Amino acid sequence: MQDNQAQVEFWNGEGGQRWADHDAQFERTIGPLTAPLLARIAPNAATRALDIGCGCGNQTLALARHLGPGAHVTGVDISAPMLALARQRAAAGAAPLEFLLADASTHRFEPQSFGLLFSRFGVMFFADPLQAFRNLHAACAAGARLVFCCWQAPALNDWLRLPLQAALRHVPAPAATDPHAPGPFAFADRARVSAILEAAGFGAVQFESLETELCFAEGDTLAAATTAMVEAGPVNALLAPLDAEARARALDDIRATLAPHYREGKMMMRSAAWLVCADRIAG
Ligand SMILES: C[S@@+](CC[C@H](N)C(=O)[O-])C[C@H]1O[C@@H](n2cnc3c(N)ncnc32)[C@H](O)[C@@H]1O
Repeated sequence: MQDNQAQVEFWNGEGGQRWADHDAQFERTIGPLTAPLLARIAPNAATRALDIGCGCGNQTLALARHLGPGAHVTGVDISAPMLALARQRAAAGAAPLEFLLADASTHRFEPQSFGLLFSRFGVMFFADPLQAFRNLHAACAAGARLVFCCWQAPALNDWLRLPLQAALRHVPAPAATDPHAPGPFAFADRARVSAILEAAGFGAVQFESLETELCFAEGDTLAAATTAMVEAGPVNALLAPLDAEARARALDDIRATLAPHYREGKMMMRSAAWLVCADRIAG
């Protein structure tokens, strides 16, 4: 079994702090995908639900509201800074929620306890996804349902592809990595995801393509929105070694690339995600 130490460090270091600092922006971006996920869950679908990789908890609260007062939702995440925000958010609301700082792939959940496993972009970071989904399967009650979303391939996600292409005219390309390595695009290949879920004991696996324009940054000017988008996104780390002049040139290039997508103060970028549903079938 491979361990998730690199992800634990990332989500407790720069990555998790960046998400917590830009929580409102991230929520404006991916918040519109919460409703299609919840639409796949009957309001009375479960009395106990698990939100995997719950982060700052926005969608955990939405799930708790959707399931109603009789349900109890547990959010699990490895990121202390993101969970701190989730706990503040839960304390401000009245929903029956708890947050657990733990690795969802190995944590010993109470066996057969959850009627619903849910995740918004929180299941692509496991070093050993089959082992992780076996562990999660063991926590499923009979008849439990799995509902999550994950990104499709980078080529279909202009929010990453376009700024990255522009940045790579100014910095050396990072070493090629395994496309299945833990990260936002690790679950892009639906055949692989199906195989993992089926091997872990889930069946009736269904994929729906969610293709939509999402707002990846806001700003009164194109320059402000470009800076906001770069600072919140993965391209920022690539630009880090550049001196001020070289960074300014790279930002000019990224801004020109993104200009056609800046409308009424918003950077609207094409995105493609999978909405995946499955049922627990095997013991
Ligand atoms: C892209 S963020 C999504 C956060 C949240 N679901 C949302 O939609 O805003 C991915 C989350 O997965 C969490 N994560 C990564 N690996 C994990 C693991 N092994 N166990 C639990 N959480 C994990 C990260 O800490 C992070 O909060």
